[in-house]
Amino acid sequence: MVLIKKRQSRINRRGPLIAYSYPESIISEQYRMIQANIKFSVDDNKKQTYLITSPNKGEGKSTTAANLAVSMAQQKTKVLLIDANLRNPSLHIIFNLPNSIGLTDVLTGRSSLSNAVHHTDVGRLDVITSGLIPINPVELLSSMMMNELLVSSLKSYDVVLIDSHSVLELTDTKLLANQCDGVVLVIQSGKTLSDEALQAKKVLEFAKANLIGVIIQE
Ligand SMILES: Nc1ncnc2c1ncn2[C@@H]1O[C@H](COP(=O)(O)OP(=O)(O)OP(=O)(O)O)[C@@H](O)[C@H]1O
Ligand SMILES: [Mg+2]
Repeated sequence: MVLIKKRQSRINRRGPLIAYSYPESIISEQYRMIQANIKFSVDDNKKQTYLITSPNKGEGKSTTAANLAVSMAQQKTKVLLIDANLRNPSLHIIFNLPNSIGLTDVLTGRSSLSNAVHHTDVGRLDVITSGLIPINPVELLSSMMMNELLVSSLKSYDVVLIDSHSVLELTDTKLLANQCDGVVLVIQSGKTLSDEALQAKKVLEFAKANLIGVIIQE
């Protein structure tokens, strides 16, 4: 029997995880407020899957997803954070984790779900990194395996948070959005055009996603 001892994430305190490094800061308080609002927007007692996306690249999806996940885990919620941005993944960098096994390995049957999970030093937060960048992200994200992964994750976690690719350029996120209970759109003040924000909203609605809120990054 081969026992793989996974490295536990040792988070860099100078990195973008403000909710971890500075829990008393105003920014961390805002993440706690967002987290509470997300909870209020859906059935409080039900276990939920949430997708974090944005209209374009580089608007703060991964930073938001990671900090929200930390914030939720600090409030005793059992959280699984998944990197489903299979073209430009970054959660392994934010959490300082290896990325040799991840979501793509689970979706292609090369790894079990439990083998792909990394525990972190933030309370009850686990992370699944992307795994190696695949040639067929659209097929993988829309596969039955993805759906089964979400269903089985909710047996062990209270909340599953998914970081994703931006929604306007590619099909990846639309296919994932309607498999989740709620979608949160991140837009950046001064960067995201209002037309693009509206277009992203329309695209998500057309994909039958449940858009529960918008986070505006200053
Ligand atoms: N609120 C913020 N204030 C200042 N900088 C931020 C903020 N949010 C994110 N950033 C910075 O902006 C850059 C892009 O952020 P991030 O990686 O979270 O975006 P993304 O939407 O996930 O990008 P991608 O589309 O490439 O996945 C990073 O360098 C990050 O540190
Ligand atoms: Mg990202």
